Amino acid sequence: MRSITVSYESCRTQVRIGAGLLDQAGRLLAEVIPPGLRDVLVVSDETVAGLYSQRLLAGLTAAGLRGELAVVPPGDASKSLTRAAELYDRLAAGRFARDALVLALGGGMVSDLAGFVAATWMRGVAFAICSTTLESAVDACLGGKTGVNHASGKNLIGAFHHPALVLVDPASFTTLDDRDMRAGLAESIKHGAIADAAFLTWQREHREAILRRELPFLEELIERNLRIKAGFVTADERETRGPRAMLNFGHTIGHAVEAAMNYRLRHGECVAIGMAAAARISREMGLLSAADAEALIQTLAEFGLPTTLPEGLDPKQIIDATATDKKVAGSRVRYVLLEGWGRAALREGVTSEILHFVLQRPG
Ligand SMILES: NC(=O)c1ccc[n+]([C@@H]2O[C@H](COP(=O)([O-])OP(=O)(O)OC[C@H]3O[C@@H](n4cnc5c(N)ncnc54)[C@H](O)[C@@H]3O)[C@@H](O)[C@H]2O)c1
Ligand SMILES: [Zn+2]
Repeated sequence: MRSITVSYESCRTQVRIGAGLLDQAGRLLAEVIPPGLRDVLVVSDETVAGLYSQRLLAGLTAAGLRGELAVVPPGDASKSLTRAAELYDRLAAGRFARDALVLALGGGMVSDLAGFVAATWMRGVAFAICSTTLESAVDACLGGKTGVNHASGKNLIGAFHHPALVLVDPASFTTLDDRDMRAGLAESIKHGAIADAAFLTWQREHREAILRRELPFLEELIERNLRIKAGFVTADERETRGPRAMLNFGHTIGHAVEAAMNYRLRHGECVAIGMAAAARISREMGLLSAADAEALIQTLAEFGLPTTLPEGLDPKQIIDATATDKKVAGSRVRYVLLEGWGRAALREGVTSEILHFVLQRPG
């Protein structure tokens, strides 16, 4: 088992990574929660609950905890105030009090929703995550961002609330869609690109083992990702000081593509398109060599990720949308760009000519 302790100003997140850990969730949870805590509401989606909730609940019972299961439909539409309200009803009906814990079992959708409910029920109860997607295991599980979507946009209602425990059992990734697996790897490539050149190289070298989901490689992949992400989020807990902005590499254009495609593409696929564009912008602005830009784009393609806008999508629509991205300071859009392998910087001054050039004729 691999362990990481992530220390924030006022709390800690314990991370445990290892094949088979799903069965030991109760014991591992009992190690990190206050002694009196007994009541656990497990929140999952129908797909994940069907696959893994029995094992998780059995482990909770074995550890002397009372576990109840609440299930929502799979898909990002469940990240809503309506579903949150249903979960509050469950908490009330089950007499979950101030000393309860909400445990998310699933991917980023489930942990964002369950985390938001944990952050707000009785002004905040304990929270833990058992990640079952790579997207969650390498990214969403850490950093404390929780929330639901609003009709006018994604993730607009939320709170910071850190999990006490993050448990990742990479054996649970065997049932994950190939497409979800690759989408999660986009965030992993992102972490290498912005912070750790050696990690990026390691991912390229072990691509086949990773895509075959060989457990030792997945465990190392997850640990290295979470150590990188922990560095950024502990340096900038509330996203007010700057470092955390680097995690948005590929996301300015990525979010615009995601919305323009009506969320039909995976988030990671859109981020891959955004990272490829950001690499090309970095090249055009003289920050990154053509060879390094090409190497990143090549890496994304080798992992089966898209690197250009989807057929038929007008670059102008994307460029207009980036102007309303939430990372706009004043009237200027700031982009996370690369200054080399493993080195990112926030830059203004990306002209619409450059954007048109890289989005229209990516080469
Ligand atoms: N809070 C953060 O910092 C953060 C960061 C990144 C993404 N997110 C959020 O995470 C969500 C995307 O994450 P995601 O890709 O994990 O989405 P998800 O939770 O919707 O999972 C994707 C799909 O995989 C299925 N699934 C999950 N685990 C499975 C398994 N082991 N086997 C088979 N099927 C499984 C789910 O039922 C779902 O259909 C978005 O809502 C995004 O906004 C949050
Ligand atoms: Zn992302």
